[in-house]
Amino acid sequence: MAIQLSDKPLLEWAGDTLAIALFEEAVELTGELATLDGQFAGILKEVIAEEEFTGKANSTVFTRVSGASPVKKIILVGLGKADNLKLETLRRTAAAVGKVAKKQKSKVLGLSFPLWNNDPTATVQALAEGVQLALYQDIRFKSDPEDKASQVETIEFLGFAGQEAAITKANQIVSGVILARQLVAAPANTVTPITMAETAQQIAQDHGLHLEILEQADCEKLGMGAFLGVAQASDLPPKFIHLTYKPEGTPKRKLGIIGKGLTFDSGGLNIKGAGSGIETMKIDMGGAAATLGAAKAIAQLKPDAEVHFISAVTENMISGHAMHPGDILTASNGKTIEVNNTDAEGRLTLADALVFADKLGLDAIVDLATLTGACVIALGDDIAGLYSPDDALAKQLEQASATSGEKIWRMPMEDKYFEGLKSGIADMKNTGPRPGGSITAALFLKQFVKDTAWAHLDIAGPVWADKDNGYNNTGATGFGVRMLVDWVLETGE
Ligand code: BES
Ligand code: MN
Ligand code: ZN
Repeated sequence: MAIQLSDKPLLEWAGDTLAIALFEEAVELTGELATLDGQFAGILKEVIAEEEFTGKANSTVFTRVSGASPVKKIILVGLGKADNLKLETLRRTAAAVGKVAKKQKSKVLGLSFPLWNNDPTATVQALAEGVQLALYQDIRFKSDPEDKASQVETIEFLGFAGQEAAITKANQIVSGVILARQLVAAPANTVTPITMAETAQQIAQDHGLHLEILEQADCEKLGMGAFLGVAQASDLPPKFIHLTYKPEGTPKRKLGIIGKGLTFDSGGLNIKGAGSGIETMKIDMGGAAATLGAAKAIAQLKPDAEVHFISAVTENMISGHAMHPGDILTASNGKTIEVNNTDAEGRLTLADALVFADKLGLDAIVDLATLTGACVIALGDDIAGLYSPDDALAKQLEQASATSGEKIWRMPMEDKYFEGLKSGIADMKNTGPRPGGSITAALFLKQFVKDTAWAHLDIAGPVWADKDNGYNNTGATGFGVRMLVDWVLETGE
């Protein structure tokens, strides 16, 4: 699919499907729109009245144009009230148009949208992101060519000639989101620790990043007993991925992004039971997927920040050499952990990844993890939990969340709850009581960061969409990539 930019007037556009975005105040159709409606024999007014279209944000109506018109189909999409236009509304509205165009099998799509905040670059970037995220289809595992038929081929943005750089930027970001979606959507017999390392290798090769893969023996030397404890039941080798993007010269900031990378989470010997969603646990590398997706995007965007992308990748399996519940592991900072539940494995892998990142002398580190069901209970499917002892870093991430439209909500790091993790025999247990389960998980992680500003995002909810979330039908969302990109760009541009 290609996006083109033009300054063609609305009245002269010819092609398969024309999408027009309308504010609530504009559904009366005056001026150019009235003329256009005249060209279509009043069909716009008719469909607006018939379908009671009021221009509410994201609402759409569709109609075919009869006769020998240069335009075959029309999509009207609402933007809400004019004085309330947000960038996120544009992004979502463009996505809504993309979905109608896909359904109507449009090949050539023209988009007529207003300018946001007098900023054509931000407008075009948001539109390009929204429409492409909605049009993306994962057909890798389909054999029927009907599923493979490509749909929209060309999209033309009317009135935005000269904004090529914004399209390039959107494409770079979208390429990272799509990589993350593909990694999350692919099942655990396709995406393994080995293929995750290969994906990192591919990104390094394509975009000139530095890659270090620590094999099991390397991790042993570093004393990563927590990570290796989780990995020990798998027949696949663990891979500790460390990708680095370095700008030219001295970077403004040095940042770390760490992702939980469980390519499958069976629960281990505390195996996930019926109704636990075990069959969906391929998504448990969503943090690592966002990390690699962000790496791909950031390598192309080239901000003035050094960024380290880190993931301790393995599976949580069962076998004769699995961890026993009750085993004591020693992490690479020397802390001992009584594993009272083998299903709380993500925090064990993250412990060693955080210790590793903490030693790199970075200005800030952010981890993303599908860490707890408790966070899904607290915040639902659309919102990630943000935990950080550092108010400035939390603010930066809240800002990046607002810009990207990826929702987060700050949760309390209630130190008192660490009592629930006290162990009679080791320094700590890996799980506490059920209440506040996502808080104790964050408090556990905090034990492994000493010197660096740190934030943790629990993305167990938004990593996957059971229902259409506006940007994609259902399935892997690629959550985190756009927010991370905004965070890095805002702090290092
Ligand atoms: N990967 C899961 C968390 C999860 C749950 C992710 C639902 C996505 C959707 C994690 O490893 C896990 O099993 N957490 C346990 C922790 C418990 C044993 C303290 C949980 O949330 O039940
Ligand atoms: Mn688990
Ligand atoms: Zn897990």
